[in-house]
Amino acid sequence: MNNADAWGLDGVLDFFDTERSNTGQVYASEWFFLKDRMREGMRVLDVGCAQGGFASVLAEHLKDFRYTGIDINPAMIERARARHPGHTFQTITEDADWACLGDETFDLVLVLGILHLHEGWRRTIAQAWSHTAGCLLMDLRETEGPTIEDKARSYFRMDFGGKDERYASTTLPYVLINSAEALETVRRLTPGARRTSHYGYLHPASASASVPVDGVMTNVWCVER
Ligand SMILES: C[S@@+](CC[C@H](N)C(=O)[O-])C[C@H]1O[C@@H](n2cnc3c(N)ncnc32)[C@H](O)[C@@H]1O
Repeated sequence: MNNADAWGLDGVLDFFDTERSNTGQVYASEWFFLKDRMREGMRVLDVGCAQGGFASVLAEHLKDFRYTGIDINPAMIERARARHPGHTFQTITEDADWACLGDETFDLVLVLGILHLHEGWRRTIAQAWSHTAGCLLMDLRETEGPTIEDKARSYFRMDFGGKDERYASTTLPYVLINSAEALETVRRLTPGARRTSHYGYLHPASASASVPVDGVMTNVWCVER
């Protein structure tokens, strides 16, 4: 099963009906940066938007903003459109350019909860940066050891919300980046950045992850033009 279909399992879709759609469900590492970067009238791009939960989060703090969500799973996008009729949603393909965006740029670009779960994460960062006029917020999973991008050694089971064996046997890569390499890669893929900051914490990997390390550093990166 490809990544887009994995995100379209019924139980996974249902999970995002209720999760990650209010400020209380925003992780501390995300809120650390997001809380100071919301402005009336801002334009926001959410890459891997699922059902557009961050449109609801932003609406708790802003009266006026324009939100565009893109996602590789069409069923997520369908539910997002139904939940947020005033905003814009587009299905994209993982390996293609985001042609639906043209050359539009955004004050805030969110890439949360996806980079460690797909093979083309470097390309996603580069594309996200090309659409960033203000600030790019994204998260990586890091390790003090060598980078691991081999899905046979480090993977994520889609067993949340799962009803049967199909869910546990559907896996995505769980990409672990050496922290020094993460810094080098972020700097290389965001040319012209005025300031690069990160904030995160070391914790055990999620119960759905199978990883050959004891702790995983979850870092949110804030890259500003
Ligand atoms: C873990 S959810 C994250 C949702 C939301 N960003 C959040 O932080 O709550 C992953 C979502 O990203 C989408 N996704 C996965 N890989 C993607 C990619 N390469 N480009 C765009 N969307 C992707 C999935 O279809 C799914 O809806």
